[in-house]
Amino acid sequence: MMTLTVPMHVPVLSKEVDTFLGQNCESNFLDMTLGFGGHAEIILKDKPPSFRYIGIDRDPEAIEFCKARFESDPRISILNSNHDDVWGNETFEQAKASFAPIGFESILADLGVSTYQLKKAERGFSFSKEGPLDMRMDNKNGLTALEWIQRQDESTLAYALWIYGEERASRPIARSILKMLELGQLQTTLDLARAVYQVLPLEIAKRKGHSNPATKTFQAIRIAVNGELDRLNYTLQNAFKNLAPLGRMGVISFHSLEDRIVKHTFRKMAGIYDGPGRLSPTKLIKEAEILTPNGVVPEVSEIESNPSSRSARLRVISKL
Ligand SMILES: C[S@@+](CC[C@H](N)C(=O)[O-])C[C@H]1O[C@@H](n2cnc3c(N)ncnc32)[C@H](O)[C@@H]1O
Repeated sequence: MMTLTVPMHVPVLSKEVDTFLGQNCESNFLDMTLGFGGHAEIILKDKPPSFRYIGIDRDPEAIEFCKARFESDPRISILNSNHDDVWGNETFEQAKASFAPIGFESILADLGVSTYQLKKAERGFSFSKEGPLDMRMDNKNGLTALEWIQRQDESTLAYALWIYGEERASRPIARSILKMLELGQLQTTLDLARAVYQVLPLEIAKRKGHSNPATKTFQAIRIAVNGELDRLNYTLQNAFKNLAPLGRMGVISFHSLEDRIVKHTFRKMAGIYDGPGRLSPTKLIKEAEILTPNGVVPEVSEIESNPSSRSARLRVISKL
């Protein structure tokens, strides 16, 4: 099996994912964010040889790892793709037609990045390790973080930091990043972190016991570079269409904006009106039941053993 030089990924809310999505599922499962196969392994544990699991991931390294990890398991089919692009894709549709002709019994999307991606310096996600300013989950396609920054002006960069990172100092940080870019001093992840520290000094944050001041900026640029929120609603609608009657769909999100999109999309599927005013439009059709009204968050013991799970929230619906 491919050997990893950094920790892989501990699947979050795995007990809850198994309870809501694994145990009810008898013949097929669609995993839209296979990652390093942590959830896949748990779901597949007691399933019969006839069970079928399709796992999709846009990260070629995660795919390579999973192909080796599940090499001897004929139940799983692995596809390297952005999950936004699979609907109508020939390989996906063929697999679906033979494994899940009336739709999938369970669908999972565990959004965001894996620990492996975050920790591997060469991938450029880490503010504490020197690496190229990359941050692409699919590191073979699209603009790197540096190329993306080069295309921003102060307002658009500050807007992204504010919206995707909820960074209150978005304006001065954007100015500092673009200043370093202009001076030819923005090449690596540590350069980007330094641009943030010029506005929010690292020493002060350390003295006060606060988290690293570059956290929000890195999160915001990562979300923008990977277009993480752009087509989430579209993907959830497509996934829902591919769900079998009484099938279940679960989404784990790590960001309030992401969770809000999931929540409102699910509420709309359940025929619940979230718009302004008291009167709901008559056009809303109830097509699903919400199984987790407030979402499910990790238990304290999980957060203690895996701090990356602290902002996770799982929402699940069942198709009528
Ligand atoms: C949190 S990890 C998933 C971990 C996985 N559940 C496990 O147990 O190993 C998220 C994964 O989703 C992938 N991903 C994120 N957005 C994606 C997209 N639009 N299409 C396909 N994969 C995506 C990332 O590359 C990453 O490997």
